[in-house]
Amino acid sequence: MVEYKLIETAAVGIVTLTALNLLVKALSHLYKTFLRPAKNFKKYGKWAVVTGATDGIGKAYAFALAKKGKSILLISRTESKLQDVKKELEAKNYGVEVSYLVCDYSKFDKAAQDKVAKVVKELDVGVLVNNVGVSYRYPMYFMELTDNEVTNLMTMNIDSTVWMSRMVLPGMLERKKGAIVNISSASAMYDLPLLAEYSGSKSFIEKFSRALNAEYKSKGVTTQCQVPFYVATKLAKMRKALMVPTPSEFVALGIKWVGYDDCVVSPFLLHAIQGWILDILPSSFVSSVIMKMHLSTRKRGLKKDAQKTE
Ligand SMILES: NC(=O)c1ccc[n+]([C@@H]2O[C@H](COP(=O)([O-])OP(=O)(O)OC[C@H]3O[C@@H](n4cnc5c(N)ncnc54)[C@H](OP(=O)(O)O)[C@@H]3O)[C@@H](O)[C@H]2O)c1
Repeated sequence: MVEYKLIETAAVGIVTLTALNLLVKALSHLYKTFLRPAKNFKKYGKWAVVTGATDGIGKAYAFALAKKGKSILLISRTESKLQDVKKELEAKNYGVEVSYLVCDYSKFDKAAQDKVAKVVKELDVGVLVNNVGVSYRYPMYFMELTDNEVTNLMTMNIDSTVWMSRMVLPGMLERKKGAIVNISSASAMYDLPLLAEYSGSKSFIEKFSRALNAEYKSKGVTTQCQVPFYVATKLAKMRKALMVPTPSEFVALGIKWVGYDDCVVSPFLLHAIQGWILDILPSSFVSSVIMKMHLSTRKRGLKKDAQKTE
């Protein structure tokens, strides 16, 4: 009887502490999103550079930063889309310059890096959004990826972030002001079977951001890793829902965190809450649930592939 009482008290204690912990996190998140003033981006270098800027989260960041007074260098793969986004941005009359550069980040070799560096190093870049990234077409076993897919994913998700950061850091450090934003993914937080390389590449982004922030924040340059769960974009192949914001909704919150020393953040509160709850659950349980979900998505993907080849 005494033992039972002790267990009951311990269980109530653990649940209460966990609930309090979640409440404190949520209050701090709400304060930082809605009450803390956003950074004054006019104090940063004139330009913001956004990779993967013609769609989804990248496009939304280009518009949000232009609205805050930053001139924008859009970098993406498809020239016609870059021209369209440039026109759309100019039509907003934010009084900023808009420029673009065509770059296929899946082929970001030394020659491509030099081409981008030549343009970027001429600009006083205050903000860099390393957004471009790719995932699998659908969840699959690592050995089902082609060698090309393996290389492209690493180049787009890791090399782009590392080399773009190296291009802007010297100028930012010289001016003692700069904000780098690296778009990671919730997939970095868990063991993600059937998306192993994607999840691994995004974990790299998180660790890289943490360490870079620790190296340079005292010199005026912050590096922040923003962690979306699902956002309604082409990449996610999802529509807007309660837990799935549009890119503009995600970025309207995300921009309020840019430049602060909150190194890893899920700006959309319902994403953050999902993360805190999943953190409490045993990782083997989370991983086995994800495996089941991904196996069923893989089955549908394989079926579609088979239909295409028929
Ligand atoms: N959406 C989500 O649910 C979600 C969740 C977690 C993390 N993320 C991360 O968020 C970032 C943005 O994703 P998103 O969902 O906004 O994607 P998206 O809507 O599909 O947009 C992708 C952007 O990247 C560009 N792009 C694609 N391949 C490129 C290449 N090889 N070289 C240069 N640019 C290229 C596209 O330009 P083109 O149109 O010219 O191809 C487009 O501007 C990614 O890093 C992704 O991993 C997204």
